[in-house]
Amino acid sequence: AQQWRGVIREYAERLPVSETTRVITLGEGGTPLVPARALSELTGCRIQIKVEGMNPTGSFKDRGMTMAITAAVEAGAKAVVCASTGNTSASAAAYATAAGLTCAVLVPAGKIAMGKLSQAVAHGATLLQVDGNFDNCLEVARKLADAYPVFLVNSVNPARIEGQKTGAFEVVDVLGDAPDIHALPVGNAGNITAYWKGYREYAEPFQGQPALASKLPKMWGFQAAGSAPIVAGHPITEPETLATAIRIGNPASWEQAVAARDESQGVIEAVTDAEILEAHRWLSAKEGVFVEPASAAGAAGILKKFRAGELAPGQSIVVTVTGHGLKDPEWALQNPDGSPVEPRKVEFDVVSVARELGLE
Ligand code: F0G
Repeated sequence: AQQWRGVIREYAERLPVSETTRVITLGEGGTPLVPARALSELTGCRIQIKVEGMNPTGSFKDRGMTMAITAAVEAGAKAVVCASTGNTSASAAAYATAAGLTCAVLVPAGKIAMGKLSQAVAHGATLLQVDGNFDNCLEVARKLADAYPVFLVNSVNPARIEGQKTGAFEVVDVLGDAPDIHALPVGNAGNITAYWKGYREYAEPFQGQPALASKLPKMWGFQAAGSAPIVAGHPITEPETLATAIRIGNPASWEQAVAARDESQGVIEAVTDAEILEAHRWLSAKEGVFVEPASAAGAAGILKKFRAGELAPGQSIVVTVTGHGLKDPEWALQNPDGSPVEPRKVEFDVVSVARELGLE
């Protein structure tokens, strides 16, 4: 069998590339859709988890980055830049390396998870820490790309959205149709924009072929409560949340996210850090899927809506979990009350191990 060729080659006819395009890929996409057994049992819905942590750099950003770096190379760029809460910088650094471009990343000082920081450094990016938040970093990155010969690879670049829409294609290709609901975290709002675009494209006839999806899902986006500008209806100047990936107060794709919500008759709501951590724990301990905290926001939203009596049973639901648990593993080593998880010490002999396991 031939291996998965990355999202550009798998979906070339639906992406802005030509036969002569030099494709920069690390084999992204083709990520598993895993049945969420415990969540399905609780809610009476058929819930599947789209595990985006399985991408080459451990997050969904790779889908957009293969397109953005491919576009940068096609435009003759020598250097790329991005602002990031971590995952975009890891992805940009890896794909720039694969393309032979230099990469600079602007990140909020002290607010990026260690896994992501180490990726950007390992791939040789120039790491610039800004004494400010993501929104400040993005403003500087945009101005830099306007004034100097560097190519911006944030999701304000349409190539990023094009690549990321393939997540929706894969869901429909596997399920045979769109789900009733698609839940996911919202930060800078690129991903909800991209999924909605992908679902809409698959619901239209294409090149003389009938539509691949018979319906559109409701888009359910969830922001962290301390960083929920779309829910509040105004920018948040000092966004806070332990889910640092979505610690964003003024999302670049705000209008597109609101359009996705309204056109799909969906919702964009907030989940608290406690709800995010509960869902993070649920995903790892009950479903077998280890994610970083921000990635649990979609599952947190499903739990919240179910408990509020706002989730009718019998629906097909896909929840995108956006990044791998190894990006930011410290949260797994805390108990729900915040105390550290202590490994149990045993004597070096079979009987005491058996006793500790309740077998003696
Ligand atoms: N989940 C994770 C793990 C993320 O890293 C991000 C965004 C999101 C969700 C939100 O996606 O911005 O498309 O709404 N991370 C960006 C970054 C901002 O710089 O890595 P969004």
